[in-house]
Amino acid sequence: MDMRILNLTDENLELAARVLRSGGLIGLPTETVYGLAADAANDAAIARIYQAKGRPKFNPLIAHVSDIEMALQEGIFSREALALVDKHWPGPLTVVVKVAPTGTVSDLARAGLDSVALRIPAHAIPIFLVREFGGPLVAPSANPSGKISPTTLQHVLDDMGDHIDLIFNGGTCAAGIESTIIDARGERPALLRPGSLDPDWIEETWPDLIRPELNPEAPQSPGQLLRHYAPNATLRLNAEAAEPGEAYLGFGEGPATLNLSERGNLEEAAKNLFSMLRALDADYERIAIAPIPNVGIGEGINDRLTRAAK
Ligand code: TXA
Ligand code: MG
Repeated sequence: MDMRILNLTDENLELAARVLRSGGLIGLPTETVYGLAADAANDAAIARIYQAKGRPKFNPLIAHVSDIEMALQEGIFSREALALVDKHWPGPLTVVVKVAPTGTVSDLARAGLDSVALRIPAHAIPIFLVREFGGPLVAPSANPSGKISPTTLQHVLDDMGDHIDLIFNGGTCAAGIESTIIDARGERPALLRPGSLDPDWIEETWPDLIRPELNPEAPQSPGQLLRHYAPNATLRLNAEAAEPGEAYLGFGEGPATLNLSERGNLEEAAKNLFSMLRALDADYERIAIAPIPNVGIGEGINDRLTRAAK
C-alpha cells in the first residue's frame, strides 16, 4: 500500500483532511498514544477502523475535538462537566456525556449508545488536523484490538501499516498511557478508565468521584470489560525479582532487564511502559514486573498491567 509519513505542515494538513473526507484512515500522535483517525461522521470510514483493529462493534470510539465549541455541538455538558474540561483540556481527559441533538458522531462510532466520549488532546497535530478537517475525528489507539497500544511511529507502522493511508510523525508520545475516562453524565461522576490524568486532580473539581476500586458496582466502559494490552509473553505482576528464565521489568533501583524508572517516577514509568513491554515481549516468553505504587497515575499503569496479565 502507498503509505506516506508526514510532518506537520500546512500542505500535509490539507492533504490529510482530503484523505479523511474521502473516507481514509490517518495515523496520528497524541500526547497519550498514537491514534487511528477517521471522520467521526462517516460510517464507511468507521467500519474500516473496526475492521483494521479487529475491534468488537459494541466497543465505542473516542471522538477528538479541537475546541469547546465543537465539544458542545457533540455533547450535552452539565455545569460541573464543563468546569472539569475547562480545567483539564487540552489534555489526557476523556468525558462521556449525552449526545447532543446537533451531534455529528455516527451511531456506529458510538456503538449505538446515546452517549459520546469526547476529548481535546494536548498535541498540535490532532488539534490542527481536526480544525483543518472541520469536524470531530474518531481515533482509537492504533493497535490491533486487545494488543499493546503504540507510543512511537514505528509501533504504528509495525501494527497497522497495511491499514493506514497516511501517518503523521510525532516521535515518542509524552504520556505513554491512554487518557483518563470519566462518565460525566450523572449526579455523581464516575472514573471509567484510569489513565494519564491523575484521578486525584479530578477529585479537586469533583470530590465525590466514583472510583471502581472503591465500588465494584460502578459503571464500566464497554472496553474495560476486555482482556487488553496483552503481550504474547506470560506476565507475573508484583514480582520482587526474576525467577530463572524470566525477564524482569523493574521500577526503582536494582537489577532489571529493563527499568520503567530507576528513580521510581510514575510519569517516566508510564511513558516507558508500552515500549518496554513490546521490547521484552519480542525476546522473552515470561516477564516478571516489579510492584508499581497504586497512587496517582500508578492506578492507570496497574490497570493496564492487570488487564495485560489476565
Ligand atoms: O488516550 C486515548 O484516549 C487514546 C488517544 C488516541 O486519544 N484513544 C483511546 O481510544 O484510547 P480507544 O478506542 O483505544 O479507547 C476508547 C475507550 C474504550 O474503552 C471505550 O469502551 C470507551 O473509550 N468509550 C468510548 N465511548 C464510550 C461511551 N460512550 N461510554 C463509555 N465508554 C466509552
Ligand atoms: Mg485502545
